[in-house]
Amino acid sequence: MAAKLSLKLAAAVLLLMAAACGKTDEARNDAPVGAVWPTPDPASLADGPRKQEVLYGEALIRRTHALVGPNVANVSMRYSGNNLACSSCHLDGGRRRFGLSLIGVAGAYPRNMARENAEQSLAQRVNGCFERSMNGRALPENSREMAAIIAYIQFLSEAAPADIEGRGAPAVPLMERAADPARGALVYSANCAACHGANGQGQRNVEGSGYSYPPLWGTDSFNTGAGMHRIITAANFIRANMPYGVTHESPQLTAEQAFDVAAYINVQSRPERNHLDRDYPDRTRKPVDAPFPPYADNFTQEQHTFGPWGPITAAREARR
Ligand code: HEC
Ligand code: HEC
Repeated sequence: MAAKLSLKLAAAVLLLMAAACGKTDEARNDAPVGAVWPTPDPASLADGPRKQEVLYGEALIRRTHALVGPNVANVSMRYSGNNLACSSCHLDGGRRRFGLSLIGVAGAYPRNMARENAEQSLAQRVNGCFERSMNGRALPENSREMAAIIAYIQFLSEAAPADIEGRGAPAVPLMERAADPARGALVYSANCAACHGANGQGQRNVEGSGYSYPPLWGTDSFNTGAGMHRIITAANFIRANMPYGVTHESPQLTAEQAFDVAAYINVQSRPERNHLDRDYPDRTRKPVDAPFPPYADNFTQEQHTFGPWGPITAAREARR
């Protein structure tokens, strides 16, 4: 009887925790298991203006560099500051399960985001990636391009609840030790350099406006304010998706290798984003792995950047 009761209690606590975690911006791995992963294809839409808009949105996600990149002929259309595509990270045009998918995302906004400590619309979230992951500038919210990107994300999300399993990237269990760039260098040359280059600069595509293998650092990469510049976020993405072709169920890297290689990538030079101290105005909501101060605690910038993160999380829990 007592055992049953405590089980029930435990279940209730878990439910409460799940509800509390429902709308944070950490990677989600607590979503319903077994839901069928949808494979929406814009080509299946009936011909007409909606199809045209969704297809334009898909093109903006997959061929960002060719349409709004830093070298497009029409200077006023240069919104991205690098030659990546959104789909360099949101794999397969945002349709890859656990590949930072955009499926289900429409239903998750507006939401209160820690980075701004304020409610953010889907358009504002898209612009967060334009300004950071693409190292560029915000698209006007009333532009044809923003409308198309949102129409595409809405189309992808039609058959999917916001808490669908496979959104984001699954959390890799944290290490006891700090992530180590020197060990990461070895992981990199053995598992990554063949595509991304020994110097991390990737390989241009035939067209020349984008990449067949995107750069991981340097002037044409994401900036220091991007989510991918946080080692936990990068390790979660890398373990579930890289080397290209692995899946979350059968990764090639161990958790330690994923953290170490993420550390290696993130000590390389890349464009600097200014005023990072203005991010996370409520410091208690700042992710433990944010690599820039100020912090709500006395752990060093070094420990926040590379870990070990366990003691930081524990100190945070104790303060709650
Ligand atoms: C360098 C990698 C990278 C690139 C390039 C990139 N993003 Fe992102 N994006 C991320 C990461 C990391 C997240 C955070 C995922 C999470 O919270 O689980 C994210 C989150 C998002 C979200 C919110 C997803 C969610 O589950 O709530 C949207 C929408 C989005 N990006 C759109 C875009 C668009 C549009 C572009 C191109 C203009 C783009 N991104 C380019 C890495 C990238
Ligand atoms: C077989 C080739 C291949 C290998 C090997 C590979 N990648 Fe990638 N990687 C890709 C491709 C292709 C993309 C972009 C996907 C797209 O454009 O559809 C990518 C995207 C990425 C991105 C996000 C985009 C960016 O520019 O930041 C990161 C981070 C990344 N890879 C890290 C790694 C790491 C770390 C390894 C080694 C553990 C690795 N990759 C191994 C092909 C590869």
